[in-house]
Amino acid sequence: MDLKNKEYIDKIKSLAKEKKAVIFAHYYTRPEIQECADFIGDSLALAQQATRVDADILVMCGVHFMGETMKILCPEKKVLIPDMNAGCSLADSCKAEDLAAFKAQHPDHMVVSYVNTSAEVKALTDVVVTSSNAKKIVDQLPQDAKIIFGPDHNLGSYINSVTGRNMLLWNGACHVHSRFSLEALLQLKKENPGVEVLAHPECKAPILAQSDVIGSTQALLQHTIQSFAKRFIIATESGILHEMQKACPDKEFIPVPPEVTEGVGCSCNECEYMRMNTLEKLYACLRDEQPEMVVDKEVAEKAVSSIQRMLQMS
Ligand code: 13P
Ligand code: SF4
Repeated sequence: MDLKNKEYIDKIKSLAKEKKAVIFAHYYTRPEIQECADFIGDSLALAQQATRVDADILVMCGVHFMGETMKILCPEKKVLIPDMNAGCSLADSCKAEDLAAFKAQHPDHMVVSYVNTSAEVKALTDVVVTSSNAKKIVDQLPQDAKIIFGPDHNLGSYINSVTGRNMLLWNGACHVHSRFSLEALLQLKKENPGVEVLAHPECKAPILAQSDVIGSTQALLQHTIQSFAKRFIIATESGILHEMQKACPDKEFIPVPPEVTEGVGCSCNECEYMRMNTLEKLYACLRDEQPEMVVDKEVAEKAVSSIQRMLQMS
């Protein structure tokens, strides 16, 4: 870590202490952001932890929907997010008005939404899930329940396959997880015989079919810690490698590369929205106490029940 980063991290930590602020970071953020955080976790753990901390200010280093979820769960606290433009391609793939129209076409269906959605979509939802608890929650719903699941099609297909349900799936996807290259994964498996493949359920079905462990970022991290194996092939956003390497310094993690589409975007397996959280922006956000997350009161009141239901069923 260069001195500039170290100085920033120290300044951020002392400012947070002074202001009684707690810093949360998702596993996909830059390593130096994770170093500033009081809590690092997957989307479920971050939401759960936010309701437990004693603080005046919560700073969410992740993406917009994570800050929104935090504000909905902790309306009396000031919730800051270093960059309001840190969005999510998956959340963007389901607009509230489109979901409302789809619900109107299927009035006998309940709605299960992945946490990667806007507050407006959560307000139209019966129960929210994350990749950590989706199976557990769907398993608790009545066997004869008709269900719309959105927005991640890959996660929905995977949950259908492990629960035996036939949920109606929204056709959304995460641009990072849906672009892992099957060809590159098969090549890595050939070059590294016997090495386990760990994948996030947002990956496409052919990648999941080649995987030994499928789980949320937290579950994948736990597996690397508990396993006796020394090497792992990882199919999820590469930010998680920082925490894996830190927790298991003697183990090796081999990231699966994405498909390379000539002239389109970058060829790395990083979420550019998560990378929008920089030390400079985190420091400025703590110093100026903005940008502050605001959620429309009426929307928040409707959305909170679907999130609370998730927390109760987790
Ligand atoms: P987790 O639920 O594993 O934190 O995943 C969130 C996410 O955005 C995955 O792309
Ligand atoms: Fe959204 Fe994908 Fe980024 Fe996760 S990795 S925040 S699903 S765009």
